Amino acid sequence: MTIHIGAEPGQIAETVLMPGDPYRARWAAETFLEGAELVNEVRGMLGFTGTWRGHRVTIQGSGMGMPSLSIYVNELIRDYGARTLIRIGSCGAMQEGVALRDVILAMTASTISTPSRGIFRDLNFAPPADWSLLHAAWEAARQKGVTTHVGGIYSSDVFYDERPDHNEQLVRHGVLGVEMEAAELYTVALRHKVRALAVLTVSDHLLEGEALPSHDREKSFGDMVEIALAAAFS
Ligand code: HPA
Repeated sequence: MTIHIGAEPGQIAETVLMPGDPYRARWAAETFLEGAELVNEVRGMLGFTGTWRGHRVTIQGSGMGMPSLSIYVNELIRDYGARTLIRIGSCGAMQEGVALRDVILAMTASTISTPSRGIFRDLNFAPPADWSLLHAAWEAARQKGVTTHVGGIYSSDVFYDERPDHNEQLVRHGVLGVEMEAAELYTVALRHKVRALAVLTVSDHLLEGEALPSHDREKSFGDMVEIALAAAFS
């Protein structure tokens, strides 16, 4: 047990998929894993461990935003021995060529700040995804026929950003989408020499002002889980 995860040692797999929403963790575990067992419910941040095609997998909610994700990722790696961590989540598209339901594989994630910011002081650290996972996820998405984009994203500290000119600069520099967790996931994973990737489905479009209706989100979310599982065990 850790401060935020109630699982016993050994109840967490080396491969962990991390949706922001704990109910998504339950849905993904019930839909894609065999023998899924609840291993964490501290603060309602549900985690499940089961198997996918014979491989042990944990699906653990991260909560929203980097401070929340950072707690779970630190404890999963340092206390439970997690070695492959894949965020499965949604993002807002920031380029015209990216559409609702497309998948974005984040090659790197820009930020203003992460919980790791203090370590870097005046350095703007550019945290990359693990190449083996990125490459395998690209291949899995291609085989599923899902339209997929690979490039930089923006991990924001706020969902409701009050600075209109801020997004303009990100769009101008080719940032594909915005979410709130990947930069810290990549940074902590790099620090501990484990693998990380963010597989994101486009749930809304910042330029077009569109959003996926909630009943459509399940299918897109399911594609993402399958891409992440295939990448983890390729
Ligand atoms: N902003 C930040 N995070 C998000 C968004 C967004 O528009 N959409 C999904 N996650």
